Amino acid sequence: MNRKYRKTVIAGNWKMNKTPSETKEFMTEFKSIMPKGRWCDVALCVPAVCIPAAVRAMRETRIGIGAENCNANASGAYTGEIAANMLVDAGCKYVILGHSERRAMGETNEDVNAKVLTALENGLVPIMCVGESLEQREQGITEEWITMQIKLGLAGVPEDKIRKVIIAYEPIWAIGTGLTATPDQAEEVCESIRTVIRKLYGAKIARAISILYGGSMNEKNAYDLLAQPDIDGGLIGGASLDAGKFMDIVNAANQG
Ligand code: PGA
Repeated sequence: MNRKYRKTVIAGNWKMNKTPSETKEFMTEFKSIMPKGRWCDVALCVPAVCIPAAVRAMRETRIGIGAENCNANASGAYTGEIAANMLVDAGCKYVILGHSERRAMGETNEDVNAKVLTALENGLVPIMCVGESLEQREQGITEEWITMQIKLGLAGVPEDKIRKVIIAYEPIWAIGTGLTATPDQAEEVCESIRTVIRKLYGAKIARAISILYGGSMNEKNAYDLLAQPDIDGGLIGGASLDAGKFMDIVNAANQG
């Protein structure tokens, strides 16, 4: 983390978990254990049908609610899809884009790029995910792969909007497996992502962008990961489903 230059962000990704009723219960518990005082930024990205319950529960708090995807088009004949302006109107601040689980369903870098541009135009904060597979890591092409994902994903994002983008580095082999990247492994890639941003947008912007780590981050390993200079927070799946565990990660970020 480097609080002098950029925000620390702890974001939960619920994936396809919890009903609206369970969302309400979680939020009630989470609010009851929220510490007073200064905080890092906290986001909870939830299934679309849970957004109203989450927004209602967190209205008077500093927790931002987010979605897990959006469509790149403004409106039209896209059955089952959700547009960025609908998310904004429902009270969302954030949207996760390009998660590896969605890429596995066929989402390309070009799709992710179109969604990032739409999200920004609508005033949402995109949390753009990148990450390599185990095979790619073993082949030694991690940096090359991630550089390509960043360049294609951010294509056409103007300088005045890039500061809003949050990048999440999530090695696919670490997601939901309990196999967290070591702090050194995670830092190495997050640092290289910042170098790519520097080349694209200059040093000042690179210094201001928040880069998160995700992949089996939990209340036990968060502190060491967040101690790395280029890891500005976490995107948390499994551990964000438990209010107490998620709060422990937020507390680790607040201590650092
Ligand atoms: P995990 O998921 O924390 O359960 O590994 C992270 C993510 O997929 O964003």
